Amino acid sequence: MRATRARIPKPAPGVEAVERLSEAGNERSGLVPLDRNERVSPLPDAVLEELRAGIDSDLLTGYPVLDDAYAELGAALGLPRERLLLTSGSDAAFKAIHQCYVRPGDRVVMLSPTYAMYDVYARMFEADPLGVPIDDDLTLQPERLLEAVTPETRLVLLASPNQPTGTVLAPELLDAVIERAAAAEALVLVDEAYYPFSAATLLPEGGPNLVVTRTFSKAWGLAGARVGFAAADPEVVRTLYKVRSVYDITALSAHCLRVVLAHPEVAADYVSEVDAGRELLVERALAAGLEPVPCPTNFLPVRVAPRVDPAALVAALEQRGYLVKGPFGAPCLRDFIRVTLGPPALMASFADALDQALAS
Ligand SMILES: Cc1ncc(COP(=O)(O)O)c(C=O)c1O
Repeated sequence: MRATRARIPKPAPGVEAVERLSEAGNERSGLVPLDRNERVSPLPDAVLEELRAGIDSDLLTGYPVLDDAYAELGAALGLPRERLLLTSGSDAAFKAIHQCYVRPGDRVVMLSPTYAMYDVYARMFEADPLGVPIDDDLTLQPERLLEAVTPETRLVLLASPNQPTGTVLAPELLDAVIERAAAAEALVLVDEAYYPFSAATLLPEGGPNLVVTRTFSKAWGLAGARVGFAAADPEVVRTLYKVRSVYDITALSAHCLRVVLAHPEVAADYVSEVDAGRELLVERALAAGLEPVPCPTNFLPVRVAPRVDPAALVAALEQRGYLVKGPFGAPCLRDFIRVTLGPPALMASFADALDQALAS
């Protein structure tokens, strides 16, 4: 160690302002992960075989070429390449949009609670995040959202369905927000992470101030490959492209994307499995005296208090081998846990563990 009087410089103010927990590690091994809304059924064997068969030395030794991935994604969506940007998970698109368009002090409007990284990026880029509260019945009063979009607003980030509440924003409300934001010269990012569990989408339509993001981390089962995309006006896409890390989409990730795009049944079948799993778990939760709030996603918010303390239930479920999300700090979710949905057989075993945990 060199003993000098040099001090480590302070990070930029926005970076200093944010806290990041380290990502989870081996402590999760052996537990059933119903806390992160990943796909919890394996990918079909034939698809895995195709993935393996496409991995050769050239794929790994050369820098990635994305032309085919863009062409196939564009064909699947009915969108030209100039409206698409592949991103390393949809998360990278959220960061890029802040980096490109948000200046210190700008207002960034979002729901509260919502996907946690929106707030992190707003603070990192020294913006002023404003959360529009979700009500205790997990719905949103539309006028609250509309009123939050003011001339100070530069960006509106809306996940629909929202996570962790499952709140779905009506297309008319999204249109009204986009119009109000246009008057304020603000962008609206609509995060469709839970497509196609929810079939509602704004694509392939567009608009100069609309950015739609999606991820392959959920129904398509590629959370480990980190692939998402933003669909936007070509000028916005060109701007977002400027701030990406070079070769951010790995050749392996692009290969995985191309294989799942060639097999649309992978996501479609999983949506059916999750629908059946939701039906089963809703029934079992109601029978256990709990209050599930079904939503078109692969997760289920379940009101467990006052029957049981959410933190105690999360701990009791972990003892029985299941990770679920909770307790939550947001007022509307104080009484809730959130359970990632999967196929009926898994949901039936989980419901047995839930019954035991409630009895303990
Ligand atoms: C609403 C929402 N958006 C985005 C993401 C992140 O997706 P990705 O894995 O593509 O970064 C999540 C993950 O849970 C989410 O719930």
